[in-house]
Amino acid sequence: MTIVIQKLERKNEDALIDICFITGDKFLKKTFPNPYLFSLFWCLYYVRYETNNCFVVFDLKTKKVVGYILSTLNTEIQEEDFKEKMAPIIKQKMKELHIRSLRSRLVALFVMNKPKTKKRKRFLNEYPGHLHIDILPDYQRQGFGHRLMNTLESHFKEKCVTGYHLEVSSNNKLGISFYRKYGLELISKNRFSLIFGKKLTK
Ligand SMILES: CC(C)(COP(=O)(O)OP(=O)(O)OC[C@H]1O[C@@H](n2cnc3c(N)ncnc32)[C@H](O)[C@@H]1OP(=O)(O)O)[C@@H](O)C(=O)NCCC(=O)NCCS
Repeated sequence: MTIVIQKLERKNEDALIDICFITGDKFLKKTFPNPYLFSLFWCLYYVRYETNNCFVVFDLKTKKVVGYILSTLNTEIQEEDFKEKMAPIIKQKMKELHIRSLRSRLVALFVMNKPKTKKRKRFLNEYPGHLHIDILPDYQRQGFGHRLMNTLESHFKEKCVTGYHLEVSSNNKLGISFYRKYGLELISKNRFSLIFGKKLTK
C-alpha cells in the first residue's frame, strides 16, 4: 500500500461525503439517513471554508481519498460562521427530504446552537482548535490516524494554536482509546459524548 498524507482539495468533496457517512455514528445516521445531509452537519463546512486546515489520507495505487482530518483554528469563530453559512442549507435539505421528526429537529438545533455556558467558554479559551478524524474501515489500525494527528498538530503549532479539543460519542470505545493513546485528556462530559483536549507548546 502506498499511502500519503496531503492537503485537502475542494475536488475531494464527494469522497469526503462518503467517508463521513460510512464511518458516522449509528444513532446519528438513523436520524439523518441521507449522506449529503449528514455531511452538511459534520464535514462540508470544513471542506468549503477551512480547506487549508484539513488533510487527507490518499492511496496512490487506487487514487482514492480514504481518510481525513478536518479542523478549525478557533472554534468560537467557526461556530458562528457555521450557523450563518450552513444552517440555511441544512434547513432546506431537511425540508426537501421530509425529515421532520422531533429527534432530528432536536439534534439539528443542538449542532447549530452549542451551549454558551461559562464552563464551555473556559475550555474553548484553553483548547481553541478542534478536529474531526475518520478513516475508512479497510485502512484503520495501520497507523494513518496517528500520521494525520501528527500532521495536524504540526499545523496547529505553526499557526500558534495553543490547544485543541474534539468530541467523541461515549460508546466509541476504540476512538476513545485512540485519543488517550495520543495524549489527549478528558476535559468535559455531555450526556452522550465526551470532550478530549490537549494543550500545545511550541
Ligand atoms: C479512530 C480512528 C480515527 C483511528 O485511526 P487509525 O488509523 O485506525 O489509528 P492508528 O492505526 O493510528 O492507531 C490505532 C491502533 O493501531 C495501532 N497501530 C499504529 N500503527 C500501526 C501499524 N503500522 N500497524 C498496525 N497497527 C498499528 C496503534 O497502536 C493503535 O492501537 P490501539 O487500537 O491499541 O490504540 C479510526 O479508527 C476511525 O476512523 N474510526 C472510525 C471513525 C471514528 O471513530 N472516528 C472518530 C470519531 S470522534
